[in-house]
Amino acid sequence: MKKVITYGVAPIAAVFGLFLTVAPVNAGDINKVYKDTCELCHGVDGKGSEAGKGFGVPDFSSADYQKSRTDAQMKESMTNGTKNPNYVKLSDLGVDAADVDPLIKKVREFSK
Ligand code: HEC
Repeated sequence: MKKVITYGVAPIAAVFGLFLTVAPVNAGDINKVYKDTCELCHGVDGKGSEAGKGFGVPDFSSADYQKSRTDAQMKESMTNGTKNPNYVKLSDLGVDAADVDPLIKKVREFSK
């Protein structure tokens, strides 16, 4: 009996997992994009996760950092990457170009 149940459930989980993996990033919900794509390095609070700090992420909660970068400079980094080899352009992470401006707004909010 147990075996029947196991065989029945596993393929469903596998198919569902695959669906989650290939589902496109939801362009409308910036908080979800941030959580799914940025938090890994930039952290829930924008200060940087342990991994992110190892890569050299800036502290988004720092007013000094925020003052040091214009929106245009951020956009340039996010669109084309930077000299830091650990930072890839966001399109390589599957981020829609239309989400870049809203993401900059989100990044700015960490220092408020
Ligand atoms: C693999 C880790 C990683 C991920 C994922 C990541 N970043 Fe970054 N991010 C970095 C690193 C490292 C830097 C610092 C780059 C530098 O100083 O040259 C950075 C810098 C930035 C900057 C500052 C650019 C500047 O010019 O000061 C912004 C804004 C930014 N990231 C936004 C995002 C957003 C939004 C996402 C999600 C869509 C994201 N990042 C995902 C690692 C990451």
